[in-house]
Amino acid sequence: MASVPSLASNVQQRLADALSAALPEAGSADPLLRRSDRADFQANGILALAKRLKGNPRELAAKVVDAIGTSDLLREIEVSGPGFLNITVSDEAITRTLAARAADDRLGVPYAQSPGTTVIDYAQPNVAKEMHVGHLRSAVIGAAMVEILEFTGEKVIRRHHIGDWGTQFGMLIQYLIEHPHELDHKEGEKVSGEEAMSSLNRLYKASRALFDSDEDFKTRSRDRVVALQAGEPQTLELWQRFVDESKIYFYSVFSLLDMEIRDPDVVGESGYNDMLEETCRILEESGVAVRSEGALCVFFDDVLGQDGKPTPLIVKKSNGGYGYAATDLSAIRDRVRNLGADTLLYVVDARQSLHFRMVFETARRAGWLNDEVTAVQLAFGTVLGKDGKPFKTREGETVRLVDLLDEAVERATAVVHEKAGKVGLSEQEIVENGQYVGIGAIKYADLSTSAVRDYKFDLDQMVSLNGDTSVYLQYAYARIRSIIRKAGGTEPVAHPELPLAPAERALGLHLDRFGETVAEVASSYEPHKLAAYLYQLASHLTTFYDQCQVLSDDNPPEVVENRLFLVDLTARTLQRGMALLGIRTPERL
Ligand code: ARG
Repeated sequence: MASVPSLASNVQQRLADALSAALPEAGSADPLLRRSDRADFQANGILALAKRLKGNPRELAAKVVDAIGTSDLLREIEVSGPGFLNITVSDEAITRTLAARAADDRLGVPYAQSPGTTVIDYAQPNVAKEMHVGHLRSAVIGAAMVEILEFTGEKVIRRHHIGDWGTQFGMLIQYLIEHPHELDHKEGEKVSGEEAMSSLNRLYKASRALFDSDEDFKTRSRDRVVALQAGEPQTLELWQRFVDESKIYFYSVFSLLDMEIRDPDVVGESGYNDMLEETCRILEESGVAVRSEGALCVFFDDVLGQDGKPTPLIVKKSNGGYGYAATDLSAIRDRVRNLGADTLLYVVDARQSLHFRMVFETARRAGWLNDEVTAVQLAFGTVLGKDGKPFKTREGETVRLVDLLDEAVERATAVVHEKAGKVGLSEQEIVENGQYVGIGAIKYADLSTSAVRDYKFDLDQMVSLNGDTSVYLQYAYARIRSIIRKAGGTEPVAHPELPLAPAERALGLHLDRFGETVAEVASSYEPHKLAAYLYQLASHLTTFYDQCQVLSDDNPPEVVENRLFLVDLTARTLQRGMALLGIRTPERL
């Protein structure tokens, strides 16, 4: 099926044509169409045009109205105020457009005109470390951007830049060498994510304690780092065991989050080791990086430390070691050259913004990034506790992600349980829905505020049935599905000949904006605007229910069919939109 142009774009086109017919001297002027409260749309472009042509705006506006003539599209168009146009589209045009959307799997949403290749760097926890809420945000926002971009036809390559390299591994590996059975599992035993993390934790704590108390162990650990960096086989093999054990844990958390992470997309810091030397050499030879106090550095005029002196990006330390920056610069080269990316999107904590600013600027100077290949950080804020402070346990420790997820599912299950009797849900459905509602609540809370803003993690609010929550949207969906089941044999059918009630028009016009919303979200990297759209959609639906009965014996059959058609398209739009955010919509709730 072909994509369906929105009513707004049809009206815009019609106005632009009328403008150039009525005022050939205007050239191609933009009618500046806006949504409006007084009518469906308002066009403000004539004011500026009149100024330019030194004419009377109201007279020009009247000329344009004459030139538009009659059509099926517009019901009313009037000049208002100093020379605006108020435009009301016909009920028939609304229903016809929606029918075209309903006939398409993609709800008429067009593909992007010139899709490219985006590498998204998201869901990047660190090996041998517990995941925390920051990792949650990256995963949730990143996964939504993957879905949204793919839906617009963009080629998306996922990269999970996990922290799997660094000096801390010296201590861990050395400890494992000296306590060889600490990570062993029984033959054929299946290790749970929880178990994997707890052995890693145990090992981490034990080796840390030894490292801090035993000078000889410290020395042996440091030598181990050298062996690791030199690629000594036994050391590498042990390092790999830590990575593998951690992956068991990561994957278990991601699966709890109902999120698919594929192994080949996990390319951690270690994946760029072979490129580091070359990256530094290119930077040094091109003069982008310079030696300073023994280190290889890149300087920026606008990045100064507290002492007023420039703070450089260090690509190679004075001891010869490479750090986070060299890895990220190498990753850029790989993603641009080998993966063919034209956009690099980094879903990373706002606290790393300075790092990325410096890395991107360095890559630009080196020519790896340019007008054709750009990099963006989709920066997100901190998750706060109810008290407005960074989220911590009462003991002041970072909150374990798994505990949060478990608690959300537990609360959600209670909410589902309460209503389950009325809907007649089976035990299994209650368990499943509890998961969909709980995980959905967490994802939606994260996605419904602008990413850069900090947000409060408040489970009570997140699973509330009223308000801007995922469960409110999930109920809206389930309620429609229930109506459709109750309708029995009556199918949803569009009837463009029927006049629409105000609540039907409002719902219909909003449904028609889905494609535009998706396109905007895809290009601005602002998933919260999709969440807002869906919330408004559910609100329009609520008003519609208040004012219009769907299955009422008082309704003529074609009204029932048309209303079923409207709610069915609403359900499909909700479902599609929620899926783009990574949230499930159960059929019965
Ligand atoms: N592992 C890092 C952390 O936990 C995030 C990695 C972000 N991605 C990147 N390319 N640097 O903070």
